[in-house]
Amino acid sequence: MTPLREGGSLPAIVEADDLGTYVLKFRGAGQGPKALVAEIVAGEIARTLGLLVPEIVLVNLDPELARAEPDPEIQDLIRASSGLNLALDYLPGSLGFDPIASPPAPALASHILWFDALVTNVDRTPRNPNLLTWHGRLWLIDHGASLYFHHAWRDWRAASRRPFAAASDHVLLPFAEDIFGADAALAPQLTNEVLREVLDLVPEEWLENTHGFSDAAAVRAAYAEFLSNRLDEPRGWVKGVEEIHEQAV
Ligand SMILES: Nc1ncnc2c1ncn2[C@@H]1O[C@H](COP(=O)(O)OP(=O)(O)OP(=O)(O)O)[C@@H](O)[C@H]1O
Ligand SMILES: [Mg+2]
Repeated sequence: MTPLREGGSLPAIVEADDLGTYVLKFRGAGQGPKALVAEIVAGEIARTLGLLVPEIVLVNLDPELARAEPDPEIQDLIRASSGLNLALDYLPGSLGFDPIASPPAPALASHILWFDALVTNVDRTPRNPNLLTWHGRLWLIDHGASLYFHHAWRDWRAASRRPFAAASDHVLLPFAEDIFGADAALAPQLTNEVLREVLDLVPEEWLENTHGFSDAAAVRAAYAEFLSNRLDEPRGWVKGVEEIHEQAV
């Protein structure tokens, strides 16, 4: 239907053959399939934790659509993304997050901050909150920058224990209160079985040919191990977020 020019990766509003309207994230955009892997893994973890995330679907894109598109940059994006892509249910009439008009409840703010620290999502800042208000509730979008260790996979086991320095620039830091309370409520929900179920949703073809891994199953297992390590006690990164929070308030 139309490109969304406010997004850095140039997502597009599309109508699919189920007549649903979605925000499509192109596999052929800058960060490639890894951004889509991050969208699924982080998005579905957030949903498991009771946070609101638009439904995530896999979309088959017909490159013929490029012929109807006037902008050559977007034509290229469509052709480079032929086949499987990711899309989120479009929330019609949603508004960008406005902390003055609708300040989030402290428990919700703490839960979102904890979740972003878990998946190392650096993309929830005051300049780019990636939060939408829809029917009076806060919805989380744009998790493509999460799990950024996977762009190199170097030292990924060590990366799983690292602090979340981006907490100091998190849009909800001023609204959060009880970080350890969030940790106690959320961490036990993410069992290895839950993590496995989430990772099983990632299409094989986005994991294949990952440098340093023999096959897609090995990459899937590495993501599971990263998250499971990050959830191991003691979680130093939770203490780190709490310290950043204490200094800020
Ligand atoms: N499900 C949705 N419903 C309604 N609007 C959406 C939805 N998803 C995204 N948008 C709108 O499109 C914009 C761009 O989407 P998104 O942030 O996911 O893309 P992006 O390219 O990763 O952005 P950036 O990297 O610039 O943050 C959002 O800021 C929001 O205004
Ligand atoms: Mg965004």
